[in-house]
Amino acid sequence: MISLKVNLGERSYPICIGHNLLEQSELLTQHIPGNSALIVSNETVAPLYMDAVEKSLSDIRFKTLILPDGEEHKNLNVLNSIYDTLLENHLDRNTTLIALGGGVIGDITGFAAATYQRGVHLVQIPTTLLSQVDSSVGGKTAVNHPIGKNMIGAFYQPRAVIADTNTLNTLEERQLSSGLAEVIKYGLIRDINFLEWLESNIGKLLDRDPAALAYAIERSCRNKAEVVAADERESGQRALLNLGHTFGHAIETGMGYGVWLHGEAIASGMVMAARLSNKLGWISENDVSRVIDILERANLPITAPEQMSADKFIELMSLDKKVSDGVLKLVLYKSMGNAVISKDYTDAILRETIAESYSA
Ligand code: NAD
Ligand code: GLY
Repeated sequence: MISLKVNLGERSYPICIGHNLLEQSELLTQHIPGNSALIVSNETVAPLYMDAVEKSLSDIRFKTLILPDGEEHKNLNVLNSIYDTLLENHLDRNTTLIALGGGVIGDITGFAAATYQRGVHLVQIPTTLLSQVDSSVGGKTAVNHPIGKNMIGAFYQPRAVIADTNTLNTLEERQLSSGLAEVIKYGLIRDINFLEWLESNIGKLLDRDPAALAYAIERSCRNKAEVVAADERESGQRALLNLGHTFGHAIETGMGYGVWLHGEAIASGMVMAARLSNKLGWISENDVSRVIDILERANLPITAPEQMSADKFIELMSLDKKVSDGVLKLVLYKSMGNAVISKDYTDAILRETIAESYSA
């Protein structure tokens, strides 16, 4: 097992990465301070992994809640059903919420933990590649609003992240690729050596080679933990983790939640950011092709959805959380492996970039 630490003073916590971790009861129970817990999962993940987590909790009074599966259920109504279960079972301020699932379960359960009785304990057990390399780490929790993605949320750190890589064996191929988009993101924004490693090893990751997957998860989490420790509440460099996300969130909202997977949407967005950076003279045509190539090899989309007009993109992007005082900053590539957050583009260049992104 690899254990990394997210350094946040008294709120520091471990990220445990390895196989068969769900069978190691102590790994979970040491992070449950009280004598009660609620395991929140969904109808796809629970039949696969709920038993293992329940067995770990033998000495703890626990309840389970199975939510419907899908991004379209990451909303206030479903969040309310978590509060209902907590209240109906008299679960108090010393209870622990255990999020067992992908990023949707992690984000909604995390927000419930942040807000129920002004905050209860939280443990993340991520079961998708995307959630193991990104969403379970760093404390961003949220639900979607019909008008905008992740618009209602809080920063709230878990007490531990337990990433059992065995769970990835049951993941659909499309979901694996979606997670690879966030892995590739770390290479593109701040870790050029990792990008080179990915270019040589993407085939092994798609084949689920256990050693390659474990390495990619560890390196991604190291990158994320460093950024979060330096800028927990995104007053600066944490925004770089949103490469492609302003375009991507527009796609997710515009197409309808769940139609494009999160990683698919940000893959398309990372190409759009590359084209825009090229227009600003920051990266070369070759660099743009390099971004496209690694994403295409990971079976991710590299063009914008035809169903969404440029006007729709602009409208939805203007709602992004990176808009401050009416100005939208975008994460762009100053050079490969070196992202910046910038407003050094004109509206005309942005519109031109979107218009050119419908074909490869
Ligand atoms: P997801 O949670 O919808 O999971 C994808 C699918 O895989 C679901 O159908 C799920 O039921 C299924 N699944 C989960 N684990 C499985 C397993 N082991 N075997 C088989 N099927 C399994 O999606 P995701 O890609 O994990 O997460 C995307 C979400 O994460 C988005 O809502 C996104 O906004 C959010 N996100 C949050 C952060 C953050 O910092 N909080 C960062 C990135 C993404
Ligand atoms: N996924 C972006 C962040 O955690 O900041």
